[in-house]
Amino acid sequence: MFNEPLKIEHITVHLRDLDRDLIGTKIVQLSDLHDDGVRLDNALFEQCIRECNKIEPDLILLTGDYITHELDPLDGLLAKLGRLNSRVGTFAILGNHDSYKASLRHKITQAITSINIEVLWNSYATPLGPNLLIVGLADLYSGEFQPEKVFSQLDKAIPRIVLSHNPDTAELLQKYRVDLQLSGHTHGGQVVLPWIGPVPRIFGLAYQLFNKRQKDRYFLAIKHWEWSQGLHHIGDNLLYVNRGLGSYFPGRLFCPPEMTVIKLLKL
Ligand SMILES: [Fe+2]
Repeated sequence: MFNEPLKIEHITVHLRDLDRDLIGTKIVQLSDLHDDGVRLDNALFEQCIRECNKIEPDLILLTGDYITHELDPLDGLLAKLGRLNSRVGTFAILGNHDSYKASLRHKITQAITSINIEVLWNSYATPLGPNLLIVGLADLYSGEFQPEKVFSQLDKAIPRIVLSHNPDTAELLQKYRVDLQLSGHTHGGQVVLPWIGPVPRIFGLAYQLFNKRQKDRYFLAIKHWEWSQGLHHIGDNLLYVNRGLGSYFPGRLFCPPEMTVIKLLKL
């Protein structure tokens, strides 16, 4: 497998109505670990833990895909996640690999919760106080993606960061106030060729031409490959897509694994 060194991406996001006390808040986002013994490089994750703790973030947010398959052991993963330190704690959502069966979803939720990481599933939390909401949505492919259920409970005047594993959901979330959506799932495309872009997009387009069945969405991974990494304005909302830490075969090219450091400022 080809791999590339960890890249720490620093972004500054200006939030409307951000409370004065929250200006300068530092958040670390990690995504798509795929800790299955093959797809996550241990040394890379150790480096990630060190760098994350050195930054002393206020909050850590995890955007899903901790494992790849149902039977992947969780002990090593929990030991690693448990060593991530921040001022107010770690909050997580689940990805498609963590929630393709209800029993798996419950198992992963229970495991992650056991190390004091709160798992959000169409729910929200206020770890930084009542003036900044952290919303976590069920994965788009789980059949339980229900943004209305949680957004209907929120005060529209309060800014919110929304965790949603699959960036395609940004399209569906345009009718809600989303100051910052954090996603993963794409691995950035893993192989991103100059002039051409993410290679899976080309396979996806070709496959789509010949086959339009519902299950294709799993093969294609996403519809919006143009949002496969980085910051994007989607209507009035802002989307950030993290390239993830784990890698599928054949590895990565021009698409390094990522840890994101987000600094909040007031708009
Ligand atoms: Fe995923």
